[in-house]
Amino acid sequence: MQSPFPTLFKTAAAAASILIMNACSPASEDNAGQPEPQTGDGDSNAIAKADFGETKAGEATEIYTLTNKNGLVAKVTTYGATLVELHLPDKDGNLVDVINGFDNVAGYEGDGNQYFGCTTGRVCNRIAKGKFTLDGEEYTLATNNEPNHLHGGGDKALSKQVWKAEPSAEAQAVTFSLTSPDGEEGYPGNLSMKVTYTLTDENELRIDYEATTDKATPVNLTNHAYFNLGGAGSGTILSHELTLNADNYTATDDTLIPTGKIEPVADTALDFRKAHVIGERIPDKEAKETADCETSTLGYDHNFVVNGEAGTMRLAARLKDPASGRVMEIHTDQPGIQFYSGNFLMEQEGKGGKKYPFRGALCLETQHFPDSVNHEDFPSTILKPGDTYSTTTVHRFSAE
Ligand code: GLA
Repeated sequence: MQSPFPTLFKTAAAAASILIMNACSPASEDNAGQPEPQTGDGDSNAIAKADFGETKAGEATEIYTLTNKNGLVAKVTTYGATLVELHLPDKDGNLVDVINGFDNVAGYEGDGNQYFGCTTGRVCNRIAKGKFTLDGEEYTLATNNEPNHLHGGGDKALSKQVWKAEPSAEAQAVTFSLTSPDGEEGYPGNLSMKVTYTLTDENELRIDYEATTDKATPVNLTNHAYFNLGGAGSGTILSHELTLNADNYTATDDTLIPTGKIEPVADTALDFRKAHVIGERIPDKEAKETADCETSTLGYDHNFVVNGEAGTMRLAARLKDPASGRVMEIHTDQPGIQFYSGNFLMEQEGKGGKKYPFRGALCLETQHFPDSVNHEDFPSTILKPGDTYSTTTVHRFSAE
């Protein structure tokens, strides 16, 4: 029988926000933990800062805690400008951490880290065969997801660097900055970036990105958070209900590189225009382990074309966990969103000893289309000197 999936990923290798909760205080606290406030005693806006450990290279890292008036908590670290924790209330006000991650930087540097919560780039997703031509010059990047380039490449991908943090004095926000030098990971131009995480009192986690360059270069930044609205490490996301505001998706070859065709989702397992339970149209774990399921039936790993005008904020996705009632809406100005159903999660141990099983969490990565740099008719990812790359994604949380 032909798979209902158009094309899926072949190898099992390489593999923020706003909550409109009931304006009530949480009924109970999970173990969010409150590090020491960073600034002055009695400063109610103080953003707590703590040590997150040393990298293998001996660099110090920090973790910052953002808290809103409803008790929601987000923690972010300088390592990879990464979202580490996100504590959201369920319909009874019980807080739980819904994000995959690790207790310290050593975990993030370990084999179990599959881009958990990181800022991904310089170019997230795939570039075919790690090659592109710009202004007459051919560039070669790492093919770290054979045969393609994935998520910015090797050791100097943005997700593996220590960023500089600047906590805000006015808002529950931290801005991370990093300059990636000309030629780093094979990309042209000195690229200066800022990523700001803001936790609002309207129960939103907002992520703002900015970048400038001194030489034309492709840029496509996203956040790679893995969500399980029932709680990270609490089973699979197969019973979550997903709605995607997308009539079309970018068709790919079997290495997940777009063919260039924009195809309708109608009459495929990719049609999430009305809410669908995620497990409804993908095979179970056993089927996945049989030989013919290793390719096209592994699960969702697709770029959807968000309806409406790129460059304007609009709804991209709505995710609900019916058991807890937690709901997340994602609004973005990006043209696309990659829905990845945690197909390569491998029972690795994360925060507090929790295990992250196959399809134990999912990613909804707002971004430009994969391999845009090799597709002239896709919205451009080229940033030119004098221009500012600027994009925003808002995660809005509620419970019902
Ligand atoms: C993205 C990709 C997936 C996989 C994960 C990381 O979402 O599309 O194929 O590489 O990252 O494991």
